Amino acid sequence: MKNFNDRVAAITGAGSGMGRALAIRLAREGCHLALADRNATGLTETAQLAQAAAAPHIGAPLRITTCTLDVADRAAMYEWATDTARQHGRVNLVFNNAGVALSSTIDGMDYSDLEWIVGINFWGVVHGTKAFLPLLKSAGEGHIVNTSSVFGLFAQPGMSGYNATKFAVRGFTEALRQELDLMKCGVSATCVHPGGIRTAIAQSSRIAPNMVGFMIENEQQGKDDFEKFFITTADEAARVILDGVRRNKRRVLIGRDARAADWLARTLPAAYQALVVLQTRRLKRLAQKRARRGTAVEGRRA
Ligand SMILES: NC(=O)c1ccc[n+]([C@@H]2O[C@H](COP(=O)([O-])OP(=O)(O)OC[C@H]3O[C@@H](n4cnc5c(N)ncnc54)[C@H](O)[C@@H]3O)[C@@H](O)[C@H]2O)c1
Repeated sequence: MKNFNDRVAAITGAGSGMGRALAIRLAREGCHLALADRNATGLTETAQLAQAAAAPHIGAPLRITTCTLDVADRAAMYEWATDTARQHGRVNLVFNNAGVALSSTIDGMDYSDLEWIVGINFWGVVHGTKAFLPLLKSAGEGHIVNTSSVFGLFAQPGMSGYNATKFAVRGFTEALRQELDLMKCGVSATCVHPGGIRTAIAQSSRIAPNMVGFMIENEQQGKDDFEKFFITTADEAARVILDGVRRNKRRVLIGRDARAADWLARTLPAAYQALVVLQTRRLKRLAQKRARRGTAVEGRRA
């Protein structure tokens, strides 16, 4: 799809970060929007920002609809897809972008945390793909954009749940793209692997208590340190994603960190793990040192 003008795009996780940035950029290009998120306030803000972004460029107001939903809820996703087709007349693009992060050791991980992240990051993508695919096919021209991560290219200790979902999104989307190529049905698919992007994901992530003293000093420091790796803006990420769709790319890497990780995982597909362990040992020692220093200061204050 070379042009988004007068197309209809459905975006999950549109209430913040990359979902919001995609909505604004698409609106600027004259694309009608169906926005979904579990956060109703963020969703309304995005709809207003997108409408304002569109106004100077097109005569008639864009059609922007919103839906508060949990992407892990299969029935809700199918209902939203049906409503979107009814309200907009057709759907051309779906961005399965909603996602969450979880930090935990496997040893200490609660099944409920693992089920939570799999429900959103993996099943959310599957639900969005399967609910919208028939609609994209009937529109005659469509594109499915599924968001994996740099953590869908290489694994890291403490990120097993996130890694599992993002590797799964990659496998699912690469197989989907091949099936669509064989079907020649006018629909294509792209798998997106962002590196660190400046969004709210770190602050809204779940960090299990077992990570404290293992790789981090405390929950807030863990989130703040995670954010230090966020080197690309959400707007730039959206630009790269839409460029990838225009060029019908199978895989989109966002940021020099994602390109470096991709190179490392392909060049040293097994040995990269030893390098990650070395680097993580250093972080672990730092976290333990800072935790000891914090305890000593608190002891002196008491
Ligand atoms: N920010 C990064 O560094 C980064 C890196 C790689 C991949 N990603 C992926 O990019 C995608 C977008 O994340 P972001 O960085 O913009 O984060 P973000 O937290 O700013 O936005 C995510 C949005 O998803 C929504 N969401 C979460 N759970 C939901 C659910 N169950 N149902 C509906 N909506 C839900 C949130 O409310 C939020 O508005 C995610 O899939 C994330 O895993 C992010």
